[in-house]
Amino acid sequence: MCGIVAAVADRNIVPVLLEGLRKLEYRGYDSAGLALINELGLQRLRAVGRVAELTAQVDETGAAGNTGIAHTRWATHGVPSERNAHPHISDGLAVVHNGIIENHEALRTRLKADGYEFTSDTDTEVIAHLIAHELKTTGDFFTAVRASIAQLQGAYAIAVLREVEPDRVIVAREGSPLLLGLTDEGNYAASDASALLQVTRRMVYLDNGDCAELLRGSYRITRVDGTPVERAETESQLSADSVELGQYRHYMQKEIFEQPVALSNTLELIGAARSIQPGLLGADAEVTLKDVRQILIIACGTSYHAGLVARYWLEAIAGISCSVEVASEYRYRDSVPDPQTLVVTISQSGETADTLAALHHAKAQGMMRTLAICNVPESSLVRETALRFITRAGPEIGVASTKAFTTQLAALYLLTLVLAKLRGRLTAEHESAELTALRHLPVAVAKVLELEPQIKEWAGHFAMKQHALFLGRGRHYPIAMEGALKLKEISYIHAEAYAAGELKHGPLALVDKEMPVIAVAPNDTLIEKLKSNLQEVRARGGELYVFADADSEMQESDGVHVLHLPEHYGALSALLHVVPLQLLSYHVALVRGTDVDKPRNLAKSVTVE
Ligand code: M6R
Repeated sequence: MCGIVAAVADRNIVPVLLEGLRKLEYRGYDSAGLALINELGLQRLRAVGRVAELTAQVDETGAAGNTGIAHTRWATHGVPSERNAHPHISDGLAVVHNGIIENHEALRTRLKADGYEFTSDTDTEVIAHLIAHELKTTGDFFTAVRASIAQLQGAYAIAVLREVEPDRVIVAREGSPLLLGLTDEGNYAASDASALLQVTRRMVYLDNGDCAELLRGSYRITRVDGTPVERAETESQLSADSVELGQYRHYMQKEIFEQPVALSNTLELIGAARSIQPGLLGADAEVTLKDVRQILIIACGTSYHAGLVARYWLEAIAGISCSVEVASEYRYRDSVPDPQTLVVTISQSGETADTLAALHHAKAQGMMRTLAICNVPESSLVRETALRFITRAGPEIGVASTKAFTTQLAALYLLTLVLAKLRGRLTAEHESAELTALRHLPVAVAKVLELEPQIKEWAGHFAMKQHALFLGRGRHYPIAMEGALKLKEISYIHAEAYAAGELKHGPLALVDKEMPVIAVAPNDTLIEKLKSNLQEVRARGGELYVFADADSEMQESDGVHVLHLPEHYGALSALLHVVPLQLLSYHVALVRGTDVDKPRNLAKSVTVE
């Protein structure tokens, strides 16, 4: 997703802008640009590709200045190209923008009628022309920016500068993140703190609806209507190196606890949105997805489990047929290709050899509508698909995938809603309820993490076992599979997952008092069926560990341990129910003393077949 850096200072700020953009590269982008005010007036440089290309242009031109704005663009409206790269200019002012302006078409029509000429396909260019237009009537730069953003619908963080006011930068946010960095020699703004740690730890986080004027020696913040507001200055504690362990004992533990932040970063674009836009999946998403006939999901390991959960969503909510394949199988299988299939590849690393090969296989068979859901923007997978959604989990170091999984699920849910909308299956009321549920998700996950002490207690019961069974039904069956994978991967306990209805078709023979049985049991339409399956286990002496939720009436009894998750979360409950399973595996592994972050025989990124 786009990243912003802005600066006004008593020094050449170009190196700060470029380093800031490099720090924001993890967000994902396809082009970069900057605008400066210097002796040339307003100077703009833009490049498709990496920040390194922009840096080369800076070196070539010797561009320098005391005031500037810079941007990495992740295309939503308009293909990645130099003409669509930010900053966008109108009448001596330049704008960079992160987010999506939902009413850009109406604004564009109006501005065109007023004589403004558009040189890009972006929604951002309307902001530049709108501010230029408002300046004609208000005469004041800050007032004109506020008057303009009052007309915007959607999510945005913006930074604006103006040639004739060389020591002033205006910024604003609604939905997309933006913070200020303060120093004695000038003031800065950026999409996240990591971009500004190079110059300061003194940060001011802007609230939604805040606008700020940055001068070299001062700044002020107002609401959109001009009312002045104070926002607290904080000392950033962020490590300059985000892959440090900090207070945690293992990366896996850190990454489990980072899930609320990872989810809120991944869902950033819907932060203030009133609707779900296909552009979330890339500039060409609407065209690519419109007449898709079916979905084929290809992935490995944990990413494959994310795909299995998504199948339930895609078929039930979007009404589209979906199949999910293990990449290493699909790549060698004689399947029946259909060019109207959307091929969805899921991978944390984007470098998994089997997933890449499976994608090549699908493309070779004429299936060119491809989407990557991936955590690494520069990865091979992302480069080779037509559409992409970058999960913003941040670096995942532990071999056992945790935050990558939950952010993949969030991305797949968004895909489901986009398809449901394009297929006319999402009413406005339903859409708004879904957006509310997604926005609350990070808080809901944080509440589940508070169950750690009880889960730790349960872990002691498993440590001496050799085997475990995981049960689930419906979309929680893949969650049971993921729980079993986590347990075997890091504790080396043999664990298997079954769809609970399959129990009496074989695995029930394994159940005795030595076999702990873990059940994923949210209060959904299958709960009564699941309860019957659990009775069958109990009747054979199996010890039950049940992850229920707030709505479920399951009670503790002899041999039946029940933990209630704080909320019932409907279609998204899979995202909550995997968290206690991650914590359980982690604590069992701790008791058993295994190498949690680097389990034997495994690698983080499986780049060989
Ligand atoms: O990077 P990927 O998501 O493509 O990796 C796929 C699997 O190798 C991976 O999910 C693996 O199963 C995890 N280590 C499990 O925790």
